[in-house]
Amino acid sequence: MVILSIIIAFLFSAPLSWAQNQPSAVEAADNRLALTPPMGWYPWNEFGQEPQNEKLIKEMVEAVVSSGLKEVGYTYIGPDEGICFSRDASGKLASNLARYPSGLRGLGDYIHKRGLKYALYTDAGTHTCSKAMPGTRDHEHEDMAAFAAWRADYLKVDWCNTKGQDVARTYTTLRDALYAAGRPIVFSLCSWGEGEPWKWGASVGNLWRTTGDICSPGKADWGNAMKIVAANEKLYQAAGPGHWNDPDMMIAGMDGLSEAQNRSFFSLWCMMAAPLMAGNDLRKMTPSTAQILTNLEAIGINQDPLGIQGRIVRRDGQVEIWAGKRLFDGSQAVLVFNPGVAPAQVQVAWPDIGFAKSTMLYVRDLWTHRTTGPHTGGITTTVAPNDVAFLRISRTSAFPVPPIIVADTYQVSLRGSGSSARKLEGTVTLKTNGSDELPLWKVQPRLPAWLSVAVTSNGKSQTLTNTVSTAGLKQGFYHALVRADNTEPVSGKPISALYYDVDLEITGGVDGRKGD
Ligand code: GLA
Repeated sequence: MVILSIIIAFLFSAPLSWAQNQPSAVEAADNRLALTPPMGWYPWNEFGQEPQNEKLIKEMVEAVVSSGLKEVGYTYIGPDEGICFSRDASGKLASNLARYPSGLRGLGDYIHKRGLKYALYTDAGTHTCSKAMPGTRDHEHEDMAAFAAWRADYLKVDWCNTKGQDVARTYTTLRDALYAAGRPIVFSLCSWGEGEPWKWGASVGNLWRTTGDICSPGKADWGNAMKIVAANEKLYQAAGPGHWNDPDMMIAGMDGLSEAQNRSFFSLWCMMAAPLMAGNDLRKMTPSTAQILTNLEAIGINQDPLGIQGRIVRRDGQVEIWAGKRLFDGSQAVLVFNPGVAPAQVQVAWPDIGFAKSTMLYVRDLWTHRTTGPHTGGITTTVAPNDVAFLRISRTSAFPVPPIIVADTYQVSLRGSGSSARKLEGTVTLKTNGSDELPLWKVQPRLPAWLSVAVTSNGKSQTLTNTVSTAGLKQGFYHALVRADNTEPVSGKPISALYYDVDLEITGGVDGRKGD
């Protein structure tokens, strides 16, 4: 009888509390995801399929935290084509427990509790590329529901084994299935440029690969990366907040690249407003690579709220002058890239970057962290082979960093007893790396009746206190997805909405916070 009543309580309370909190189709489209390029780590470039498993992903989660990458905004992490699931006889996806003993939901919880977001991978065809995993073809709705149930926040959908499928139509079906699944998930299209997704992708996904793979697993290929830059550069008009050209995951820090190449690669990805998905082995990163990947001034260019993709505005011999990237405070980003074999002296003239010759401008070097000026007319700089000068140019000598948000956790787990009415509390702290304090985060009004959220500010960090009142709650599991919104105060541009999970278990036992 007791067991029966627990089952009944679970069946009625959990889906009910979730349904109260689930977005409509219109709200799903207005999910404000990825308003700046997604940042994170993905295993494919370094490892390929082997040895992707729970141990590797958890070690990389710890490395993201301990290396300082998390602190500067790297957030999304998870397996790529890593033999994560199979399809069972009933057609449902099931976690591969041999490789991921906690199950895919368990891995997601681990990632969320560390203040990171969960990325998963699938394919639009019958199978993934190696055929080791099933694709979503003819299972679109049930598969997207599975990714939502595993609490994915980011989904990369590959394009292998898709014979006879139309690219735009297939990804649109998957988008609708994702909306129907009810969890806001960054949607990463991976058709390698097939079907020209830059022409229609903005209304379908948040990012789309523009080219083939940047390298074979474990083999960084500088020449191929440069071809990808040339192709991706031409598509600059398609990029903007919520919809990005994706020239593939990064190779910076992989064996075979020099320090100058790592610096150039990272600067190019920042200048192209490309997703910053690190692809190197973070467990054995050199101090030089760590310093490059965590350069907040460079990341600030990538994470600028205007979301403009820079482009080549002039060539001087082999040297490329990249500009056209106005930033939130009215300053301009400029990249001088020397892909040649000899040092090059280059003049950046103010008219090249949209200022009149007589304008007095300050120049910030984003790698040496020095400011000079004011200068009129332009500046001359010498750039070593394969290296860059990455600059920010402004009428004032203040070079503010835009908001780059870091959370201490994305999952609040509370447990209470149904026998006595109590208040339970769990917090989420959001910090900005930006120069300015942010307005208070606005929590969506539509929360389930058992949950309220209060926001308090402590300068650049704000605490969202989640209070649960157990009064009247039956035994069972309850879940809510909380959404918080904010704006960048200088430009008035919206910041990506922030989502976190609140889990509540009502037992017959003792109240408190579930042991993390
Ligand atoms: C494709 C993608 C890669 C990776 C592999 C996995 O090649 O472009 O990024 O996901 O599939 O097989």
